[in-house]
Amino acid sequence: MKRTIEFELNGQLVSAEVGGGQTLLELLRQRFELTGVKEGCGAGECGACTVIVDGRALTACIYPAMEAEGRSVTTIEGLATAEGALHPLQSAFVEHGAVQCGFCTPGNVLSAKALLDQNPDPSEDEIRTALEGNLCRCTGYQQIIEAVKAAAGRKP
Ligand code: FES
Ligand code: FES
Repeated sequence: MKRTIEFELNGQLVSAEVGGGQTLLELLRQRFELTGVKEGCGAGECGACTVIVDGRALTACIYPAMEAEGRSVTTIEGLATAEGALHPLQSAFVEHGAVQCGFCTPGNVLSAKALLDQNPDPSEDEIRTALEGNLCRCTGYQQIIEAVKAAAGRKP
């Protein structure tokens, strides 16, 4: 069964026809061409597909597209300004060498954003807990933690 849903995507009201078995990951990548949303495991375990829905970081690969109806969805494409200025988290990731192959980066940045939006001054333990669902094969994680610490308190 298909249905047309409306939701806010990176600050803009959008509509899309979605099918019952469609995931938010498929909708974002295929219909909206937001390829910053990565598909890794496809099973809710790696965090590569993380997006923010109504302020909460979640894995789009196991989130039904229909559930986005009426909600606010943020992907990595929604973080930089229209003029191309990076979000403080993105800048901090670059400055701290927290990006290598980059596959995990959108998910890590968005999990960190959801954390900092709720808790602007998190402890290292709180950062590690917020990012524990985001796997990275390249960086060893410490650079990512340092980047999030550095971004805390910087204004977007
Ligand atoms: S692709 Fe969604 S958690 Fe791995
Ligand atoms: S930078 Fe390569 S998986 Fe994290």
